[in-house]
Amino acid sequence: MTDAVGLRGRPAALGVARVPTYANAKVRLYRGDATAVLRSLPRASADACVTDPPYGEHVASWDGPRCREWYVAWLRELDRVLVPHGPIVTFAPRRRCDVIMSALREVRGDPPEAPLQMLVWVHRQGFRPAPGYLRPEHEAIVASGLLRVQDDDVREERGSLTESSRSTQPTPRPLVGTVIEAPRTARRERTGHPTQKPEALVRFLVALATPAGGSVVDPFAGSGTTLLAAVELGRTAIGVDRSIRACRIAADRLAARTRR
Ligand SMILES: C[S@@+](CC[C@H](N)C(=O)[O-])C[C@H]1O[C@@H](n2cnc3c(N)ncnc32)[C@H](O)[C@@H]1O
Repeated sequence: MTDAVGLRGRPAALGVARVPTYANAKVRLYRGDATAVLRSLPRASADACVTDPPYGEHVASWDGPRCREWYVAWLRELDRVLVPHGPIVTFAPRRRCDVIMSALREVRGDPPEAPLQMLVWVHRQGFRPAPGYLRPEHEAIVASGLLRVQDDDVREERGSLTESSRSTQPTPRPLVGTVIEAPRTARRERTGHPTQKPEALVRFLVALATPAGGSVVDPFAGSGTTLLAAVELGRTAIGVDRSIRACRIAADRLAARTRR
């Protein structure tokens, strides 16, 4: 199946064998609720997760008083789908950073040999804040599990980010560090998805988390940036999004940019 089929109608029901909304040899994209779709995937069937949970939709359960339960629910299913200790790298909305970290600790513990790590994406392009608030200039990214910091493709992707960023460092650091300076999504990359992340940044995160030739899952795929990055880096990918519009954007983007 290579077309954006299955985009009409309701997301598949919980527990029912699912048909991807879009698929090719390297990618499967499911339309549906993240927790429900993850629950339908086999145990230990993916190597890593790179994701970007929703934020800013104040009516949703994940953004209300029970949001911690929501994080725990999908992280628990994700942990089951990943190989043991498979890395989880997730953007962490500023207001929910503590909740994501605490939910990850509940699901995975905080093993001393692989404590949670935090990366900071500095874009310096935040919106004008409400009176009394600092202008947001960064986003946090939380990582659980050991990352592939020594691998060549990680350094390559990190290097290309440095070049495209406004970093004042004259040379790349010998070690891969926690601060990434990179502009927000460039106009030429934009698909119309409101929270689309920059391709170079996501490619770096996929390289950091996923072994060469391995598989990555993104339960909040949006416009498909993680899925695209995975294919470009020679990995395979599984994506989920509950929005018909996001699935359509991602399917069109993947069909245009990836080989079948
Ligand atoms: C922050 S966006 C991801 C953007 C993506 N990283 C990109 O570059 O385009 C979060 C996505 O999660 C989706 N979403 C929200 N609630 C969801 C749920 N319960 N299950 C699956 N997807 C959900 C939204 O439709 C949205 O596309």
